[in-house]
Amino acid sequence: MLEVKDVSASYGKALALKKVSLRVEKGEIVSLIGANGAGKTTTLRVISGLLRPNSGDVIMDGRSIVGKEPFQIASLGLIHVPEGRGLFPEMTVIENLEMGAFLRKDRESVKRDLEFVYSLFPILKERGKQLAGTLSGGEQQMLAIAKGLMGAPRILLLDEPSLGLSPIMVDRIFDAIQQINKERGISILIAEQNAYMALSVSHRAYVIENGTTVMEGAGRELLGNEHVKKAYLGI
Ligand SMILES: Nc1ncnc2c1ncn2[C@@H]1O[C@H](COP(=O)(O)OP(=O)(O)O)[C@@H](O)[C@H]1O
Ligand SMILES: [Mg+2]
Repeated sequence: MLEVKDVSASYGKALALKKVSLRVEKGEIVSLIGANGAGKTTTLRVISGLLRPNSGDVIMDGRSIVGKEPFQIASLGLIHVPEGRGLFPEMTVIENLEMGAFLRKDRESVKRDLEFVYSLFPILKERGKQLAGTLSGGEQQMLAIAKGLMGAPRILLLDEPSLGLSPIMVDRIFDAIQQINKERGISILIAEQNAYMALSVSHRAYVIENGTTVMEGAGRELLGNEHVKKAYLGI
């Protein structure tokens, strides 16, 4: 469904990615794990059209999407929930959810998706009229994911969904990620420093180091890998 092939990308003269390759099949949860600065965010930015690669290709449903505008890629069903969550803090919870559905015209299915995000995160229904910027960190992450879902993704890109959250909140977010995948069949690509959580919920995963994907395996398999244990799990 999504394939990143030998992508290189830079910021000015600084090379951030050199030969990143990964794929996400329909219905999969895939994670991209790596240290701070390894290139996870940059990889997601290239996929969603926010940054042009120097070389390599990004293929969705068999076609290259390199050079398309982010909104065009979003309307193909690829939705990016960015690091820092991408919310409108001065707008209410409901208004943020409406912004998530901005490109859609199918009002009936927008309504159904709203019911789904409320069932996933009931607190968002209670907090509907509250300004997004006044929510707790965990609630903001829920809203960011919910706003992403309102864009009707077939594939959802999540950048550091666990960042800055308490362990209990991290569990709830990752439970929701699994629920979204199971109940909606949405493919999910997660960029995470929290390797343990990401690998625990992922069908497959990639390790990125210094801008290059260096390892690939089933989530459980990588949890038991000696290099991954030492470098990313602290065991
Ligand atoms: N806006 C930017 N301008 C210049 N360099 C950047 C920018 N964003 C990231 N980088 C650099 O690109 C590399 C990869 O960063 P990033 O993709 O953010 O890593 P990660 O998400 O894995 O922490 C790092 O060396 C980082 O310093
Ligand atoms: Mg990042």
